[in-house]
Amino acid sequence: MRTVAALLTLLGTTGCSSDIEPEEAQATRTLIREGAVAREKAGGNELNPRIVRRFRPLAPPARAMSKMDEARVELGRVLYYDPRLSRTKDVSCNSCHPLADYGATHDSHSAGVEGKRGARNAPSVYNASRHFAQFWDGRAANVEEQAGGPMLNAAEMGMGDGPHVTSVLRAIKGYAPLFAAAFPGRDDPVSFENACAAIGTFERGLLTPSRWDRYLLGEKEILTPQEKEGARTFANLGCLVCHRHRRAHRRSAAREAGRGGAVARSIRQGSGRRHAPHDR
Ligand code: HEC
Ligand code: HEC
Repeated sequence: MRTVAALLTLLGTTGCSSDIEPEEAQATRTLIREGAVAREKAGGNELNPRIVRRFRPLAPPARAMSKMDEARVELGRVLYYDPRLSRTKDVSCNSCHPLADYGATHDSHSAGVEGKRGARNAPSVYNASRHFAQFWDGRAANVEEQAGGPMLNAAEMGMGDGPHVTSVLRAIKGYAPLFAAAFPGRDDPVSFENACAAIGTFERGLLTPSRWDRYLLGEKEILTPQEKEGARTFANLGCLVCHRHRRAHRRSAAREAGRGGAVARSIRQGSGRRHAPHDR
């Protein structure tokens, strides 16, 4: 409740709108003021199209994957689980982002090499590729660029530099054919850069479409009345000023990230993690 009260205060003042493009803030204020939400009766009737329009369904890319992309996904998957990409050979991406457990550990600071703890909480990797930027402060543009960070970070996988990662990968014989298939026609396919690209391709498939997406795609009966009420409340409270589809998000939230504020997470990830959003 404290969070909601704080948010409402925040939204009620001009303090918030300075972080958001005027026309975006205006549109949301209009949505709230005109009572697009409140006017609708609760109890199973459809959501106002003006609310629905603000969301985009999470769907896999329409185009089928090429042989090369399939090989990249496969290589990315192997790399993701490989602890040999850490200095102590016991930490993999999956140590801090366990795919069998919502893609994030449940501790406040995940343990890296020699049990070292970094300064921040590990976000989930599920759906992360659809964020407009990576990391809490948005310092990496996409998952491919992001993937190199943890391998080199002293408190995470501790590999020092890219050339060292490349030499470790080259020393593992089994990787040669996997890299060759994923990066055909390259002279030296086994490299740190290609490893990052393959991990990124793998992560782009880590999506969790839900009944909400089926609703957005037209299955109007798929949500319960209570869930529709939740969507109305979400819109009515102004949550989608910050939590919304990627394209609109990029425009408004990029500024916030640039000022050192946190990048709004996808609320799709919110179900499995232990966290205290907005309260830190
Ligand atoms: C020691 C724990 C640890 C390991 C190992 C680790 N990560 Fe992370 N990861 C984190 C933390 C902590 C953050 C947030 C850091 C920040 O924002 O500064 C993060 C952030 C991310 C993000 C950004 C997600 C988002 O929504 O912004 C992605 C993607 C990611 N990691 C993928 C990976 C991949 C791929 C690997 C393996 C190459 C990896 N991580 C290894 C702890 C870890
Ligand atoms: C002013 C922008 C803003 C508004 C408005 C906002 N959020 Fe957030 N939200 C964020 C940011 C930034 C984060 C990530 C940092 C944090 O957790 O504090 C976040 C994180 C979250 C998370 C955690 C996601 C995760 O996986 O860690 C949830 C859940 C969430 N918000 C729900 C809501 C709800 C529900 C509302 C409306 C009542 C709302 N937010 C309104 C910016 C906002």
